Amino acid sequence: MRKLVDSINVSSLSLPTLLVMKKIAMLTSGGDAPGMNACIRSISLTCIHHNVLPIGILDGYHGLIEGKNKALTMHEVYPLIDRGGSYIGAGRCNAFLSKITRSKAIQQIHRAKIDGLIAVGGDGTFSGAATLCGEMNIPVIGIPSTIDNDVKGTDYCIGFDTAVNNAMNAIDKIRDTANSHHRYFIVEVMGKQTGRLAEEIALSSGADFLLMPEHLSDTKKLMREVSNFQPFQRGKIIVIAEGDETGGALHLLKKLQFTHPTLDVRHCVLGHIQRGGSPTAHDRIIGSNMGKKAVEWLIGGKSGVFTAFKNGKLIPLELKTTR
Ligand code: F6P
Repeated sequence: MRKLVDSINVSSLSLPTLLVMKKIAMLTSGGDAPGMNACIRSISLTCIHHNVLPIGILDGYHGLIEGKNKALTMHEVYPLIDRGGSYIGAGRCNAFLSKITRSKAIQQIHRAKIDGLIAVGGDGTFSGAATLCGEMNIPVIGIPSTIDNDVKGTDYCIGFDTAVNNAMNAIDKIRDTANSHHRYFIVEVMGKQTGRLAEEIALSSGADFLLMPEHLSDTKKLMREVSNFQPFQRGKIIVIAEGDETGGALHLLKKLQFTHPTLDVRHCVLGHIQRGGSPTAHDRIIGSNMGKKAVEWLIGGKSGVFTAFKNGKLIPLELKTTR
């Protein structure tokens, strides 16, 4: 029988030297992502299994600086598997860019007697974690989690699959109206400066056009298609990434309304609907696996690496400062 994360057998770990750790802390930073809670749950349960106390740092790096944290119990993390968001709070923290502020965080880490830290988040989170790791002698492991799926070195970041599905489901609904009214719909999706999210959303929802930052948008082609659109045709869906050079859904809407005044066209910015809700099976499983691996790596003496998903396997890759 395959062992689940809740019932890990220590003897199954072939670790050369197990570090004696009493407290492992975790934080979730940047934007929340579905599957983060499955990861928090897995980190905590793996810690408990190894007789390590799991500590949740509240609200990302803010909590690290201010010394806000709490011990997590099996009872409270157990039900987290299907919950969106982050149970311990997330957030962006520009103050962490300052060395003086980071030294306060290091003091808090020592005061709380934390033996290892796991930072869950995207590029910004990893930058903070890499810098911190170089400034203190407490091991740090990163776990990639952002709906943008844009952390370099990993094929996957926790939250991406749920965000794709959330947007796909929303577009399935929008398409009903698009078809019934023979309308064009411009749907803006998240992704910051990358179009990975937009691309998967467009493919899975069978969109007619995709505008994303990685490719120069062929607006001329789009305009030609729009000019040929007949009022009895099925509706058309344009997926646009928020970072596309066209300037987003509202800009494109105004442009189309100007060039084609009789065209029936609407826009919809999906926004944070993409980021919330219960995680898909994929995000629960990968969140759980990454969480378990991060604890095992810490106990096994690794530091300054993150759980990169490469060719179906979790491998340690160096945490780097990107800022
Ligand atoms: O990085 C995740 C993300 O959802 C991006 O896709 C988006 O641009 C950004 O966060 C939104 O951030 P906030 O929730 O702070 O508005």
